[in-house]
Amino acid sequence: MDEPIHVPVLLSEVLGALEPQRGGLFVDCTLGLGGHTGALLEAGATRVIGLDRDRSALGVAATRLAAFGERVEFVHADYRQLPAVLDARGVERVQGVLADLGVSSMQFDTQGRGFSFRRDEPLDMRMDQSAGPTAADLVNHAGEEELANAIYQFGEERFSRRISRALVAARPITTTGELAAVVRRAVPTKGWQRIDPATRTFQALRIWVNGELDGLDRFVSDAADRLEPGGRLAVITFHSLEDRVVKHTMRGLAADAPGAFRVLTKKPIVPREEEIAANHRARSAKLRVGEHPAAG
Ligand SMILES: C[S@@+](CC[C@H](N)C(=O)[O-])C[C@H]1O[C@@H](n2cnc3c(N)ncnc32)[C@H](O)[C@@H]1O
Repeated sequence: MDEPIHVPVLLSEVLGALEPQRGGLFVDCTLGLGGHTGALLEAGATRVIGLDRDRSALGVAATRLAAFGERVEFVHADYRQLPAVLDARGVERVQGVLADLGVSSMQFDTQGRGFSFRRDEPLDMRMDQSAGPTAADLVNHAGEEELANAIYQFGEERFSRRISRALVAARPITTTGELAAVVRRAVPTKGWQRIDPATRTFQALRIWVNGELDGLDRFVSDAADRLEPGGRLAVITFHSLEDRVVKHTMRGLAADAPGAFRVLTKKPIVPREEEIAANHRARSAKLRVGEHPAAG
């Protein structure tokens, strides 16, 4: 099999934000294939604790980052467990925290994970395949209204009610191909489409299956809380729902306790045109950065 590929997004911007050349302990809350972590370590981070809820991503990262030996630790955990992960290691504060949200290209492209409508395969979509309902469970067992609400809220899909009705009528739906076909038939189309009509429904189901927005605000405050003075928090989002939560939470923290947190990005940092041209996945990325101001 080809080596799984995931090009880290906004890499130089993340290094500029987290300043790993200062050394110290960093947490990569979404290790993925380890692209950002490898760069942090190369640039001078003393040690990185890498979290991922996907065991197969941790396995690939462990192979790729083997040369860094004990400078990197691989932890199967959800980033919402960050305080517990740090407590378990006796770590009170860290120099930097990174979260690069969403799915990796490896998850998207690996056969059998069910994230993509470009292949026909079982409708799974779980990042952590050891837990929780699959997308097929939700599509086949949720009430019509609950399904419509999820597609509307997480996919910002204006035809959510029609789609939900069509999905309920077509049950059971067990593969990505069946799901995409039902959605495409349910959505009115006029001429050329910029994106596949199934895109928003797939996004919605993925966010729902993985609870991607649940506790994101709490995670941002927990991470901010564990920064050393001068420590930085960098969060990359890929859709407006996530970005809104990160923006508001960071602003709220800064307003409530300016001595403990300050937002460094008035506007989010977005990829340069060359990056988008080279890596299409980067097109919707937004990076927001905050810090625990250094004393004095
Ligand atoms: C965009 S990728 C990160 C890629 C990584 N920065 C790199 O350079 O290879 C996102 C990763 O975060 C993981 N992930 C998503 N939500 C998570 C969560 N709540 N807790 C832990 N890991 C999560 C996914 O499994 C995926 O591997």
